[in-house]
Amino acid sequence: MAETIPIGADHAGFEMKNRLVEELKSMGYAPEDVGAYSAESTDYADFGHIVADKVSRGEAKRGILLCGTGLGMAYAANRHHGVRAAVAWEPDIARLAREHNDANVLVLPSRFVNTEEGVQIMKTWLSTGFEGGRHARRIAKIETDSGSNPR
Ligand code: RB5
Repeated sequence: MAETIPIGADHAGFEMKNRLVEELKSMGYAPEDVGAYSAESTDYADFGHIVADKVSRGEAKRGILLCGTGLGMAYAANRHHGVRAAVAWEPDIARLAREHNDANVLVLPSRFVNTEEGVQIMKTWLSTGFEGGRHARRIAKIETDSGSNPR
């Protein structure tokens, strides 16, 4: 069965998202487009939370988000337990985000990469595995909040 990949964007990432949805289909994936469905101004967190929630709950193994800088989407997505959302602006970042950080959400900065670059970044991220080993230990430490302020 085709892997379902939730994908979302705000208005800044809307056009590139549409292209990525088509690419995913042609690669044999089942993209789940959670919006936005037009280039009208929207709030990135609305879509970031939908995609990250699906990954966090295990409804999807991985997800894709786009906004202008990638930053707002990453902030929202990374608040979800078990989500490691990586902003990638070139294929090597996407590769390392998989190999070292096991990034399960790819975030594309749509105002800083063109569509063809976006496609290449996504393809690299999709096809690269996690190296495990010492990187698994490091990832495990992300989930502890021993360094944070007491609530
Ligand atoms: C929208 O103008 C822009 O702020 C948004 O796409 C994103 O870059 C936020 O982090």
